[in-house]
Amino acid sequence: MSGATGTRVGEFAPVPAAAPAARTVRVALAGCGVVGGNLLRLIADQRTSMQREHAVRLEVVRVLVRDPAKARATPLLAERFTADPAELLASAPDVVVEAMGGAEPALSLARRTLARGGAFVTANKQLIAAHGAELAGLARRHGGRLDFEAAVGGGIPILRVLRDSLPPDGVTAVRGILNGTTNFLLCALEGGVTFADALAEARRLGFAEADPGRDLSGRDAADKLRILAWLAFGAEPARISVHTRGVLPDPARYSADAAALGGVTRLVAECALTTRGPVASVEPWVVAPGSELGAVSRERNLVSLTTRESGDLALAGPGAGGAPTASVLLADVLHGAGRLPVRSDAFAAAVDARELKWLLSVPRSPSLPRLLPAVLRRARVAPERLELDGADGVARLLLRPTTRARAEALASLLSSDEAPVCLSRVANL
Ligand code: NAP
Ligand code: HSE
Repeated sequence: MSGATGTRVGEFAPVPAAAPAARTVRVALAGCGVVGGNLLRLIADQRTSMQREHAVRLEVVRVLVRDPAKARATPLLAERFTADPAELLASAPDVVVEAMGGAEPALSLARRTLARGGAFVTANKQLIAAHGAELAGLARRHGGRLDFEAAVGGGIPILRVLRDSLPPDGVTAVRGILNGTTNFLLCALEGGVTFADALAEARRLGFAEADPGRDLSGRDAADKLRILAWLAFGAEPARISVHTRGVLPDPARYSADAAALGGVTRLVAECALTTRGPVASVEPWVVAPGSELGAVSRERNLVSLTTRESGDLALAGPGAGGAPTASVLLADVLHGAGRLPVRSDAFAAAVDARELKWLLSVPRSPSLPRLLPAVLRRARVAPERLELDGADGVARLLLRPTTRARAEALASLLSSDEAPVCLSRVANL
């Protein structure tokens, strides 16, 4: 229950004495549902590492909700909750994080935050698809920041790739599966689950919009496609017309229709640059079950980019869900806070204790059969298969699962200038 423990979010674990002095960043959070609630949990869970690795301490100063009296699984003090957007802004935040959804009060919060040069981070695709260009203009003019990685692809960090990692004019087409709920439902229908049961499960897991009609009609994916097309092609999102046809009124029929052709249905969003400008659609496609699109399962999303210089690029991952979405929201908050690692030894060599499979080869020598048993014993490695007389003059050993250290010890015992050893990790064989 809110405030039941009296402990503040971000104050659970003691901070090590050696941690560098951290800068406090005041966070005002609008929305404490599936996404906002998970963000509060992450801020608490990662407090120590954020302080140690990034010298940042996030303090949640105010939370805007519809019903401040509602019981919530957060230890944040009850008095931090408010239903008044003005109170949220009056809390002198360094960053306003919006995870409410819908048009208002999200738009007013964004305008007011950016107009005074603040940082605004949002998961709201409806807001960005409709007003992204205006809000980005406000941020530019007033020296504010606008980040919205969580608005597209849930936990997939595709927007930063488009914004920061590709050259301008580098992308010619964007295609993908952009709605986790619809994909979850289509996969469940393929598995024989009823539509009603699958939708109830998608809602229970926190994937669906407040109005799931936005998911199933393709409107949610169309908003995400507008945002991708904006970043890829520079076209103002609100002005991109997306030919939109979802899987309503009968998702089960779409699934059965595809099965009749031996395929599966996926709701695919595509925007290609043509000589007339970006041409965009969201519609059901029948695809082969094991194809790139057909293999996207449950609430996962896939975004593939056709680029001028790097060919096809693709990113896939959880397209909906509180934890993955909150993790990219948090990354946006830290990015805005000037995220820079302050410790370089944070990942000092961990010992890899995993038992993995290895293939080792060595040019065959007359002494090898005699030496090998003792060398294997010394390295404490057992071969699963031995091929001492390969036609190419090379002896090959497929090792039983063992640690990298042991496999490398064996390789170095067998290796010499005349007989260099090759050691490969074996996967999926
Ligand atoms: P949610 O669980 O329904 O939570 C919405 C939160 O916003 C609730 O805390 C609610 O307050 C508050 N809220 C709603 N309208 C409000 C208003 N007019 N004034 C004040 N507070 C209001 O929604 P969600 O799933 O977290 O989604 C939030 C946003 O993230 C949406 O834009 C959604 O599209 C986006 N998103 C969601 C996911 C996902 O997987 N769920 C993934 C990516 C992006 P109460 O708690 O008092 O009702
Ligand atoms: N309702 C959305 C979906 C949430 O299912 O994809 C993620 O944006």
